[in-house]
Amino acid sequence: MKLKDTLAQNSFDYAYLTKRIYKYIHPYLFRIILGFIIALPVGALDGVIAYALKPYMDEVLIKKNMLLAYLIPFGIVAFAALQGLLRYLNDYLTNWTGQKVTNDVKLALFKKLVYMNPKFFDENSSGIILSRYFSDPEAASKGILDNLKALMSSGIGAFALIGVMLYNSWELALVGVVVLCAAFLPAALIRKRIKNASNQTMKISGNIITDFNETCVGNKIITSFNLTEYQYSKFYKEIHDAFDVNMSLVKRVSWMSPIMYTIASFGIAFVMAFGTYLVLSGRMTSGSLLSFVTSLLLLYKPVKTLGNTLTNIQTIFVALCRTFELFDVESEIKNKENATTINGVKEGVSLENVNFEYVENTPVLKNINLKASVGETVAIVGNSGGGKTTIANLIPRFYDINSGSIKIDNIDIRDIELKSLRDNIAVVFQDNFLFSGTIKENLLMGNFNATDEDIDKVVKAAHIDEFLDELTDGLDTEIGERGTTLSGGQIQRIAIARAMLKDAPIIILDEATSALDNKSEAVVQKALDNLMQNKTVFVIAHRLSTIQNADKIAVINEGELVELGTHDELLSKENGFYKRLYEMQFAKASVAV
Ligand SMILES: Nc1ncnc2c1ncn2[C@@H]1O[C@H](COP(=O)(O)OP(=O)(O)O)[C@@H](O)[C@H]1O
Ligand SMILES: [Mg+2]
Repeated sequence: MKLKDTLAQNSFDYAYLTKRIYKYIHPYLFRIILGFIIALPVGALDGVIAYALKPYMDEVLIKKNMLLAYLIPFGIVAFAALQGLLRYLNDYLTNWTGQKVTNDVKLALFKKLVYMNPKFFDENSSGIILSRYFSDPEAASKGILDNLKALMSSGIGAFALIGVMLYNSWELALVGVVVLCAAFLPAALIRKRIKNASNQTMKISGNIITDFNETCVGNKIITSFNLTEYQYSKFYKEIHDAFDVNMSLVKRVSWMSPIMYTIASFGIAFVMAFGTYLVLSGRMTSGSLLSFVTSLLLLYKPVKTLGNTLTNIQTIFVALCRTFELFDVESEIKNKENATTINGVKEGVSLENVNFEYVENTPVLKNINLKASVGETVAIVGNSGGGKTTIANLIPRFYDINSGSIKIDNIDIRDIELKSLRDNIAVVFQDNFLFSGTIKENLLMGNFNATDEDIDKVVKAAHIDEFLDELTDGLDTEIGERGTTLSGGQIQRIAIARAMLKDAPIIILDEATSALDNKSEAVVQKALDNLMQNKTVFVIAHRLSTIQNADKIAVINEGELVELGTHDELLSKENGFYKRLYEMQFAKASVAV
């Protein structure tokens, strides 16, 4: 599923989307409704003021009723004070419920994200993932409540004002309501434009975030290749693309409000003329006309809000639709029903007739058969891009194979519960990732129950103590995002120690010592040998010296297992792949000496 190709296809299916978001609104329903009820009198204030103008004009100004002259202003102040209190309560409730609903949606989405399989991250850039996860859920869940509230309070406001108008003159009111309905028509015409522009904006903002991210992560490459201008112009173009999309939306949508306004002005003009006639012919008091015209003028605000709310709601449904599209993205790697758990490994790991492709019709592994028994170390060597790392990816089920099977103790790994499977495997990757935080925190990620002694042991074994003295806070040194403040070899040693702490029965080492110098490598290798005892081990290495002692060596060439045997067996093959690899390596080594 490519997130940038989003269509927000169901965004006009309001019933379906409402039903889905209702699940998240439901737990807070009581407080949400309470907030709405409180909002009702808030909306009605304008109506009360407009209503009060009639007695004020007719009774106070014309008939000089002094009691009312005092009461009306006080009444208005009292009502406004009450309204202020309600407004506060309402604000509090709306924010509380809005944020709660948003949080629940975000948490549910994040849970999906952390469980997502690697393919999802292969296909989607970090930028589009970030922008999809951050903007839509917030806009959708908070927006829907805010706009419902606005709809309620402006609706009530409009309703009250129309009531006052009807009270003063039903004939005039009729004109007002008809004009109002006419003014709303354009709102229905623009929803498709809003959807398209919103999808485009999402795509562009994804690119913008990706560029930001790459500017931070790739900063050294950008500097050394003098790509500053290039990076800047890429960003410049995206910012302007975003501008164009926004402006095209403004161009297509913003005529709506002036048209509504113009239609409304016809209504006002007509009411003025007709009203003057009614007053002069004695069929209406001037107080009634004043109250009516005030209502009509005041009506503009709630009607405008209603118009905006209708536009906003289109945007919100697009965001809702995209949010639920994310919810519907399923991790392709899932627990089977009735998946079993494993507790340690008794026999070993075997790959049987394994075929695999990342991308359709591009086979990467072809009919691989390979077995590692407990206590055995299988070394995997071969050409770059041949598929060695891919084998390492398949055993913890980062990807599922296309045909064949991978078994642990004769149980297909697809029948094993994912957590249990991964609990039993420790991997040191080719490109190791450290988390922001301290070295110790990173080590503990291998095993949160490790004691200080355990940590001490692996720190020595992986030769971390060698560079620990140079760091300001030893193990408690903050290492920056992705371990940026450490050297490649240092990162690798932390990754090895982290895997050692995990102490899992299956160990996969993907060029785990490639960044170490010969001296450290020899020592770390010794520690790894200790770690590997009685375990089931796959070790991928480009330096043949590190794999000579393996029980079996598997040579992978272009996705095929071309040779399998011990070091000596393979060396004795005339023109064998391993022999050639070994000789090339050997020749290189003697040149280096
Ligand atoms: N995530 C991926 N998506 C698509 N193709 C991939 C991915 N990872 C690796 N490949 C391709 O699979 C092949 C094997 O890669 P890999 O297993 O990393 O090789 P090795 O580790 O032996 O150098 C290569 O052709 C590579 O381009
Ligand atoms: Mg590799």
